[in-house]
Amino acid sequence: MNIMQPFTTQIDLHSGVFNPERQIIRRYLSDMQTTYADESAVQDILKQEGNRLVYEVHVTDLPEEEGQLLHCTTIIYPGRVGTEYHMTKGHYHSRRDRGEVYLGLAGEGYLVMQTETGETSTLSIQPGTAAYVPPYWAHRTVNTGVVPFVFFAAWAGEAGHDYGTIEQLGFAKLVVQHDGQVVVIDNAKYK
Ligand SMILES: [Fe+2]
Repeated sequence: MNIMQPFTTQIDLHSGVFNPERQIIRRYLSDMQTTYADESAVQDILKQEGNRLVYEVHVTDLPEEEGQLLHCTTIIYPGRVGTEYHMTKGHYHSRRDRGEVYLGLAGEGYLVMQTETGETSTLSIQPGTAAYVPPYWAHRTVNTGVVPFVFFAAWAGEAGHDYGTIEQLGFAKLVVQHDGQVVVIDNAKYK
């Protein structure tokens, strides 16, 4: 039995920044060229404006093993790609029977979820909203506001991340801006 030492992390509730800083994962638009439905909008941005930081994750460097509770903050910067709002890549857990809990800290957005049996769910997250992703639901977060959308998440260490299934199939629902409003629409490209 390996006994770890307990520890704390100071989290800035506005910016999501960890103190002490641990592992930071940054996702740029160039890392997400097939994530957005409008792939030509991605290429136009990359050509005309250059690369863009879409989101970053500040994560505890805990071992990804049974019994651990990994936790992180995610900061999604505001913006759109075509009509689609900035969002995370989204994933299933490799261990499908593992859930996750979120807590909104700053800004606003949506948690978009779906199962492999065709169910979908889209929940609004504001500061103070705790949202539960039950086992078997793929999950992605979307910033629908004009300031960074910041939230905390915790999940089982053995859950793992399966990004490939979403990269291949996409999400059934898209969160887009239409006539200045936030609208959830069907993804015509969803397989
Ligand atoms: Fe997850």
